[in-house]
Amino acid sequence: MSASEPFPLISELKSLAAEFTRDLDQVTDLADLEERRVAFLGRKGRLAQIMSQLPSLDPAMRPEAGKVANEVKGELGALFDERQAQLMGAEAGKELADFDPSLPGREPWLGATHPVTLVTEEICAIFENLGYEIVTGPEVENDFHNFEALNMPPGHPARDMQDTLYVTDSILLRTHTSPLQIRTMLRREPPVAAIAPGKVYRRDSDLTHTPMFNQVEGLLVDTHVTMADLRGTLTHFVQLVFGPETRVRFRPSFFPFTEPSAEVDISCVMCGGTGFVDGAMCRVCKQTGWVEILGCGMVDPEVFRSVGYDSEKYTGFAFGLGVERVAMLKYGIGDLRMFFENDIRFIQQFT
Ligand code: PHE
Repeated sequence: MSASEPFPLISELKSLAAEFTRDLDQVTDLADLEERRVAFLGRKGRLAQIMSQLPSLDPAMRPEAGKVANEVKGELGALFDERQAQLMGAEAGKELADFDPSLPGREPWLGATHPVTLVTEEICAIFENLGYEIVTGPEVENDFHNFEALNMPPGHPARDMQDTLYVTDSILLRTHTSPLQIRTMLRREPPVAAIAPGKVYRRDSDLTHTPMFNQVEGLLVDTHVTMADLRGTLTHFVQLVFGPETRVRFRPSFFPFTEPSAEVDISCVMCGGTGFVDGAMCRVCKQTGWVEILGCGMVDPEVFRSVGYDSEKYTGFAFGLGVERVAMLKYGIGDLRMFFENDIRFIQQFT
C-alpha cells in the first residue's frame, strides 16, 4: 500500500520526539544537555538521518512527511531551548549559593600624590607664606618671552645653552620658567613677588636628563632689593625644605638675564657636608660636601628695560630651581627615571 509508505517515517519521527523529551527530563547539567543536542539535533544526529530519507520517498508522500519532519524539528528545538534556560538558571543559582557575602572585600588601590607635586606644593607654600603670589603661564611659548626679553636676542650665544624644542621658527616649548618673569612684569607695576611652578622642555635625554622636567621660578622686584635679600630668602627656604642645619653657598655663575649671577649649593643632605657616609665616599656629593640646587641672580637692567620697568628706581632678584632635583635630594631618590615610571609602589611611599 503505497499511501502508507510515509507512515513508518512519520512514526519514526514521533518516537524520536518522545525519546528526546524523556532524555531531556533526565539531563542534569549543561554538558549533558549538549551531548543530547548533538545526538538528536546535530548535523549528523538522528533527526538529520531520518530527514535524509525524505528524497527517496514517493513524491506524492513527500509533502506530508516533510511537513511532519519540520514540525518535529521545531518542537525539539523549542524543548531544547526551554531545558537549556532551566539548567542555566539553576547553575547561576548554584554559583550564587557558593558566594559568601561575609568575606571581607578587596581593598581598592588608592592613588597618591606624586613626589614632584608634593615638593612643588611645599616650595610654593613656603613662598606664599612670605607673601609671594603663585603665577603660571603657557608651556608653548614664543621666542620673545623665552629668550629675547630675557636679554637673549636672536643669535645670542647664550641661546646655545638650552637645546630648544621648536614648534615653528618663533614658537617653542619653554626651556625654563623664566618667561614667567617677563609675563608677570608685563602685567603689573612693582612691587612684584611671584613664584611660578611649571613644566619645562629641553632636547635632552639620558640617565640624568629628561626632555620634560619641572622648575619653580621666583621673582622679587621692589625698591632697595639687594643680593643680601636673595641670600636670606634662599637660606630660609633651603632650611625649611632640607632642615635647619643645612648651609648655603653662593658660587659666581652666568645667566644673560641676571647680573651678577650665582649658582647655589647646599651642604650635602646625604653626608651632612663631611663627604663621607659610614667611612665611604658620599656618592651624592662625590665627597665635595656640597650639592648644587639652583641658579639665581639680580635681575639684569636689560630685562627691566624690555618690560618697561625703571632700572634706576627698582632692583630685583630671580631664581630658578629643578623640582625633580630637590625631590631626589630631599627623599634620597637615586634614579631620575623613577619619577616618570609611575609605579604606584614608588609613588605611595611619599604620602
Ligand atoms: N632659568 C635658569 C635655568 O633654567 C635658572 C635661573 C632662573 C637663573 C632665574 C637665574 C635666575 O637654568
